[in-house]
Parts: sequence; C-alpha cells; structure tokens
Amino acid sequence: MRGRLTADIKEEIRQRVDLVELASAHVSLKKAGRHYKGLCPFHQEKTPSFHIDRERGLWHCFGCGEGGDIFDFVMRISSLSFTEAAETLARRAGVRLERSPEEVQQATERDRLYRALEAAVGFFREQLLHPEWGRVAREYLQRRGVDVNAAERFRLGYATPNWDDLLTALGTKGFPAALLSGGGLVHPRSTGDGYYDMFRHRLIFPILDLQDRPVAFGGRALDETSPKYLNSRETAVFVKGRTLYALNWAREAIRQHDEVVVVEGNMDAVTCHQFGITNAVASLGTALTPEQVLALKRFASRAVLVYDADAAGQAAMERAMTLFEEADLPVRVVVLPSGDPDAFLRTEGPQRFQHLLAQAVPIFEYQVDMAASRHDPKTIEGRVRIVDDLIPAMGAVANPVRQAEYIRSLAQRFDLAEDAVRQRLRGRTRGKSHFPGPPQAVPTRDRARDQAERLLVHLMVHEPALRRVVGEALSPDDFQDARYRDLARALYDGPDDAVEGIRQRIDDDGQRLLMQLVFEDPPVVEKEKEKVVKGAIDFIMYREPAAQHRLALARQIQQAQTAGDLEQVRRLQMEYLKLIGLTPAEVPPSRESGQGQPSRKGGEDDGQEEGGA
Ligand code: CTP
Ligand code: MN
Repeated sequence: MRGRLTADIKEEIRQRVDLVELASAHVSLKKAGRHYKGLCPFHQEKTPSFHIDRERGLWHCFGCGEGGDIFDFVMRISSLSFTEAAETLARRAGVRLERSPEEVQQATERDRLYRALEAAVGFFREQLLHPEWGRVAREYLQRRGVDVNAAERFRLGYATPNWDDLLTALGTKGFPAALLSGGGLVHPRSTGDGYYDMFRHRLIFPILDLQDRPVAFGGRALDETSPKYLNSRETAVFVKGRTLYALNWAREAIRQHDEVVVVEGNMDAVTCHQFGITNAVASLGTALTPEQVLALKRFASRAVLVYDADAAGQAAMERAMTLFEEADLPVRVVVLPSGDPDAFLRTEGPQRFQHLLAQAVPIFEYQVDMAASRHDPKTIEGRVRIVDDLIPAMGAVANPVRQAEYIRSLAQRFDLAEDAVRQRLRGRTRGKSHFPGPPQAVPTRDRARDQAERLLVHLMVHEPALRRVVGEALSPDDFQDARYRDLARALYDGPDDAVEGIRQRIDDDGQRLLMQLVFEDPPVVEKEKEKVVKGAIDFIMYREPAAQHRLALARQIQQAQTAGDLEQVRRLQMEYLKLIGLTPAEVPPSRESGQGQPSRKGGEDDGQEEGGA
C-alpha cells in the first residue's frame, strides 16, 4: 500500500499539514524551546514527554518510545491503516490521491459510514424544523427551556414516529440499508426482510467525535416511553467507553479553564453550555471508563463531577474516584441539593451553579464524609469501618504524595495511628504495581485453587448478578493467578456490563481469556450453581492453609482493634505483613533485609506457619 502513494504526494501532504495543529486536537501543547511539548496521547503520564518538532513534522514520546511523522500520528490516534490515514490527511491538505477502484472502496468504507451518519444528522434536523412534523419536538424543547441557539449548536434533531422515514430518506440519497445498519441507524427486521428505523419519536442528540464527525446518537423519548434514552449501539466508528458527549464542543473551553465539568446526562451538558458552562461534558449515562478519564486528561489537569443528587448519582461519583486517582487527575465534586445540573441551572440560575463549582470539595474529602455518615466515628468499630471503606479508593491513588496526604488527614480526623492506616492499606492492596510487594503474577501450581478461581470468573462472565455476590466475598487480590485477578477486577468494576464493556477494561491477554470463557459454557448445572459458587469462595478463603492462617490473624487484629489494644494490633499486623511477604517500610532496615524478605509464595507453599491457625 505504502508504495502506491508516491513520494511526491506524500511530501506534498507533509508540506501542507501542520503537525502541531493536527496534534492539538488530541493533546494540549505548549511551546518549549524549539519544540512543542504535551502529555502523550498514547500512554498515561503525569509529566509531558511527548515532543513535536514542528518544522520537521516529527513527533516522539520519551515516555513510551512511540514516534513518527504525521501519517504515523493519524494512524495511531485514529486506529487507521496507512491508506486510511493518508486519505484523511490528503483530504485535509486538499491533495488528490490516485488509487485503484478496490482501494478506493476499502478506504472509503469508514468514510461512507461517516457520510451516512452526517446525512442522518441533517435528516433529523430537517424533521425538527419541519413546520408540521417537528412541532411536537420543538414544543418539548421549549418546555424544557432549550433555546434555539443551543439546539442549533448541538445539532439536535427529531426522529418521526414512523418506522422507515430515515431508511427511505437516506435510501433515496444513495445510502444503502446495510450501510445504515452498520452505523446503528436501522435494524434488520426479525422476519429477515428489510430494516426498520432504530430511532422513532425521539429527540435526537448527535454524538460527535473529536473531529466533529457524528458517530452515534442518543434519542430521548418525548413522553413516558421506556427507555427514556436510547443510544446507538457500538459500531466501527463508535466505541461507547471511549466517547464523551459534548467533548467536541467543550474542548476549547476545557483547555482554557484547564478544568472539565463532568455531568451525567446529555440534557445536563446542553443546559450547562446554554448557561455559559461551556467546559461541560456528559458521561453518556454509563459509569465512567478509564479511557474516558484519559481522554479528559488530555485537555485539562483538573475535573469537577456534578452528578445527580439521587443515590445512583452519588454512588457513581464515589466509584469514579478510583479512576481519577489511577489516572492522577485531581477531581472535586459538587453535591447538588436535589435533582440534576439541568434542573438546578433552570431553577437557581448559572451564578449559583458557578458558586457551587467554585466550592467543590476534593473527592477524597467527600468520600470520607460519606464513609463517616455510614458508620459511627465515635466508636472504634465505626472508625475501623470508615478506614476499611476508604481502603480501595486510597489504594488506587497513583500519586504517592497525595496518598500520604490522604493517610495523614484520615488519621488526624479520626484520631488514628497513621501507621495503622498505612498497614491496613498495604495489607489490602498488595500486588498492585505501585506498592512494594511480591511480583504481580504469582504462578500457581495448585490445580484445585486454579480451578476454583477459573470457575468463579467463568460464572461471573456469564452471569452479571454473580459479580456482586463474589465481589462481596473476594477482592481481586484474592485471586492468585494474575489473569483471573485482572478479569475479576474488570468484572467487579463493570457489574452490569456486557462482554463488550468488560473487554474495554482489560489488556489483550485478558481479552483472549474473556473470549475463551464467553464461548465456553460454565461446567455447572443451574440448580447446583449457588452451592458451587459458595464452595469455590470458601475454598479460596478458608480451606487453603495459608489463607486460613491469614484469616485467623485478620480476625485477631480486628478483635484487638475493637478492644483498643494498639500494641497488640501493631504486633499482629507486623506478623500479618510478614506472612504476606511484606516488610513494613517503617521498620529500619537491618543489614540483611533486602535479601531476607520472606516471599509470599514461599510462605504459602511450604506452609511453615500453619501451626498457629
Ligand atoms: N441514559 C441512558 N439510558 C437510559 C437512561 C439514561 O443511556 N435508559 C443516559 C443518557 O445519556 C442520559 C443519562 O443517562 O442523558 C442520564 O440519565 P437520567 O439522569 O435518567 O436523565 P436526564 O439526563 O436527567 O434526562 P432528562 O433530563 O432528559 O430527563
Ligand atoms: Mn434531567
């Protein structure tokens, strides 16, 4: 393929496309000497190591080692083949490419999809503006206070109640039904003959990518129809977990404020923009994904979450903390007195909203408050619970300085020994890369253990309901095999996600395992299932001797904590840490330490310590 594009044409494109301008759609760039610098869009980092040499049209990341020219950049950032990238760049540069008919067809497949989606935006828009058909939707917008400018800017539209209006209209414009189906606009009829419109009698929110191309739609019912919102399914150009509603419109403002406002609903985002909060994006209703957080990090170094005041919104906000901490993107939260940002803005006005934004509290403080409202901080047991509730969130903190600060403030607020908090944290989060501890992958030679772990993740893959059940009993770290551990973590993180959602949360190896399990029936009959799950959990938790010892120790620690015997707590915790292969950092290193660390594996295999259990 590369050969087909003559050196001349390539050079001409290179001459005409400014890499800094091109990359600016994805990275916030600052001039640094001869070069431009920014946070690498290809890996997660805190300090900029992505460099651009504007004159040469070359880029390089000192962090991940990626680099190349404009073609490589477009290929990587948009996951395109070289031909497709060249096509995109040629169009941008206004350069014509000569290619064979087959190549033209291949390279334009995605392009045709984009054009069909663009045509659909136009069609929905026409329907909204149609004096007759669009009246009901225009009245709806008016009732909700969406002004004409906002409707235009967000390219809102209306899908008529008929079953094939879009199909027909786009058909006559030369877009075949199969293409529309590939774009998630129409569905094949179950009878096998023909297709029908996916969106009917709904207000349409086009979802655009960062190149301002429509890639999907959200359709809101105009009445009590369920579901309230219908979103396009994932397609060749739409991956839900990587897309944020309104990011394309908010991008510039986000960069200017160096802060992004994250809301839950499409309507919340539109209303925010209408009232001047133009750095707002919506999470598409689903739980935020790591990719979405990473996308935000490219434009801002701070985030504020303004979720619905209901329990679901508050819970989602708490869960989001882990993601933001892992990405090291500081995040604050606003707790609305009631309702959602849309309702608040309309009843209270933008000034009060801005006021709330200015007073947003760091998410950790918020989480501590939440934990303190769940348990009684006046009792020791309550304080133990508060700390335990916060362990997962603290464990996710990628920035060690911030983590230390969290530990300090927590200890201070509840009058706890900082050491105790730190040790508790270490005991629970061992195995994570940013903590000292045994290597991630502990190879397991124990077949029974292996089978129990596999069985549990297998069942969780097939039955989302089990993810919460197992999740309550076992933490990801309880899985010895790194592959099962990672998959378990992804399943816990997406307790309601379909396979596609889980896939987005794990690496290639994990995806292979996942697909294998998906295509395999779990070896359990329905009526035995409950018993089998319980058996497998029990096996992992108790029957394994080392685990039994750990558990006994953990219980003793808890008892000592309840009794307030801090000396005993400390002694037992040391023992516990030794057992799992960790030497507490507080202990001054003796001369032998470093070599003399007992490995976790050794401790479990030879079972020396079992006598005590
Ligand atoms: N959502 C969805 N499917 C649903 C319900 C909600 O995809 N069945 C998504 C939509 O993106 C929606 C967001 O979740 O915008 C928030 O949902 P919700 O709070 O229920 O709706 P609002 O945004 O408040 O919608 P509205 O103001 O139009 O009632
Ligand atoms: Mn709402």
